[in-house]
Amino acid sequence: MTGPIRDFALETYMSKWEFTAKYNMTASDAETLRLPELMAMASDEDRADFENLSLGYTETFGAPALRQEIARTYETVKPEDLICFAGAEEAIYVAMKVLLTPNDHAIVVTPNYQAAETLPLSICAVSGVALDIDNDWNLDIGLVEAALRPNTRLISINFPNNPTGKILPRATFDALIDLCRKHGIWLFSDEVYRLIERDETLRLPQAVDVYERGISLNVMSKAYGLPGLRIGWLACKDRDFLVRCERYKHFLSICNSAPSEVLARIALKNRDRILSRTRAIVRSNVAALNAFFADFPHLFDWREPDGGCIAFIRYKGADGVEAFTTRMVEEAGVFFLPSSVYRSDLTPVPENCLRIGFGRLHVPEGLTVLRNWLTRNSL
Ligand SMILES: Cc1ncc(COP(=O)(O)O)c(C=O)c1O
Repeated sequence: MTGPIRDFALETYMSKWEFTAKYNMTASDAETLRLPELMAMASDEDRADFENLSLGYTETFGAPALRQEIARTYETVKPEDLICFAGAEEAIYVAMKVLLTPNDHAIVVTPNYQAAETLPLSICAVSGVALDIDNDWNLDIGLVEAALRPNTRLISINFPNNPTGKILPRATFDALIDLCRKHGIWLFSDEVYRLIERDETLRLPQAVDVYERGISLNVMSKAYGLPGLRIGWLACKDRDFLVRCERYKHFLSICNSAPSEVLARIALKNRDRILSRTRAIVRSNVAALNAFFADFPHLFDWREPDGGCIAFIRYKGADGVEAFTTRMVEEAGVFFLPSSVYRSDLTPVPENCLRIGFGRLHVPEGLTVLRNWLTRNSL
C-alpha cells in the first residue's frame, strides 16, 4: 500500500489531552528540567557560550561541538558519523525518504510508534511482524525471516519498545543483525528509550556500533527528559546515507535551533547526573506501581517492563479499555492511551491494553487519584 499518510493516531489523541488532563499518566518522556536547573550544571565556559550565542543558522549536520558530545555516547561513532534533526521524528521521516523507493520492501515490528510504519507505507510495500503479548512480547526471528522478500531493503525496530517496554534478548538482537548482514539489509534501530533499563544487563548495543548497515536513532527527549529542545540524531557509518539525509534536511528544518544545540551539549556533558535522576524517578514510580497493581489484579495485568518508562498493560474491566480511558480522563483527569491509538495497518495489535507512563514525578499522586476513583466506582 502506498499513498498519502494517515493521521498519526497517537499524536492526535495526545494533542487533545496532553496539556489539559491534570495527570498525564501516559507520558513517554522522563521528568523534564527547568532551564535554571540545566544551566546550574554548565561549566563557566558553556554558560558563557549560551549567554553570548549568535542566533544565526548553524550547520545542517549539527553544530560540531554538539556532535562531538553525541559521539561520546557511542563505542565507535565519530562526529562525522552523525547528523542532527529537529527531534527523533524528523530523523525518522528523512531516513525513510532517503532509504526507500517504491520498488523496495520494508519490515516493521508492531506495535510501534506509528511513524515507524506509516512513513514507509507511504513509499513502498511493508510487512509487519508482531511482538507476542502472550509470550512476554517476544519477537520471533523466524517470522522476520519468513517476511523477507528479494527486495527487502530495511528492517525497522525499536527497543526498548514503544509501547511495550520490551527489550530483545541479546541473542535475538544478534540473530537479527546476522539476518540483516546476510541479506545486505539496513537495520533502522530506534533507540530513544535506551539507557532506562530495569537492569543494566538488559541494555543492548547501539546498532551503529555493531553493524555496518546499522542506523541508530536517538534524541534528548526521553531518557534525558528534554523534548522541548527538539534535538535528535542519526548515527551511521555510511557517508553516502548521511549526505543524502543532509540534502533532504535542506527541505525541512535546514538546521537545528542554535540555543537548543548548546543546551543539548550541556545536558550531554552532564549525562550521568541527568540519567541518574531519571532512573531514580523511574525506580521509585515502579515501586509505587507494583504496590498499586497488587491491589487491582482483577482489573490490570501489570508486569514491570524491561526498559523505557512506559508499559502496555491489559485492562480486564467489563467496560473495555476505550470506555475506561475516556471516563478516567473526563471524570478524574487521569490520562492514559488506549489500544486504539496503536492500531496498525500491518498486523492486529492487542485490544484492551492501555499505555501507562512512569517517568514523571506526579505518578504517585496520579495513582492516588486513580485508586480513589476506582474505589468510588466499586471497580
Ligand atoms: C519510539 C519513538 N520514536 C520516536 C519518537 C519521537 O521523538 P521526538 O518527540 O523526540 O521527536 C517517539 C516519541 O514518543 C517515540 O516513542
